[in-house]
Amino acid sequence: MTPKTCIFDLDGVVVDTAKYHFQAWRRLAEFVGVAFTHEDNDNLKGVGRMESLDYILAKSPRLFSNKERLALADQKNDDYKELIKGINAAELLPGVSDTFTWLREEGWKIGLASASRNAPQVIKSLGVEGVFDYVADAGKILNGKPAPDIFLDVARALNSAPTDAIGVEDAVAGVTAIKAAGMIAVGIGDPALLHEADVVMPTPEGLIECFKLMQAKA
Ligand code: G6P
Ligand code: MG
Repeated sequence: MTPKTCIFDLDGVVVDTAKYHFQAWRRLAEFVGVAFTHEDNDNLKGVGRMESLDYILAKSPRLFSNKERLALADQKNDDYKELIKGINAAELLPGVSDTFTWLREEGWKIGLASASRNAPQVIKSLGVEGVFDYVADAGKILNGKPAPDIFLDVARALNSAPTDAIGVEDAVAGVTAIKAAGMIAVGIGDPALLHEADVVMPTPEGLIECFKLMQAKA
């Protein structure tokens, strides 16, 4: 197989916004009077806004109306937007910029499969919106990660067979989605957590070497 399409997750892969999602969710959890641990945060990586909110609200003995749920989701998002207001290219994770350059030089297609509705704004702030041949619109994807839909949407838009694509993810739900889409999964983070991935590395710094090996094997 000659992978020629690379589909990136955004938060925790391209940029360390995962820490800002964590802070905003923790504040929200405190607001409704429930605990929010790092383990909870790991479970929520890659998971959409309302699903994440419902995970947190399920810890409360209270029931929340739909109106309250929507207001709480807005509250978290306002907090998150405030936290990412100043982000710029300096916050790209190590190795990301070089990886984009290498993929371009080697003629790969590059896609973005983020569940975040803030993704277009984030890639603009980072100055990398021009890198992507296609950016999935999270609002238009029926089933969120761990369903394969968003990765399949990007592959389709890039005219790529799933088997010719590599997905890069930091979330357990994201890795599951990539594998369900029939793609090669590269995990960024803890190998014990991301055990479903074909390869796991601590940061994106190892991506170019990994892609070179895949090309050599093809
Ligand atoms: C990504 C992040 C999640 C976040 C989700 C929705 O998948 O990993 O932590 O909850 O996007 O983001 P949004 O910006 O739309 O609330
Ligand atoms: Mg992520």
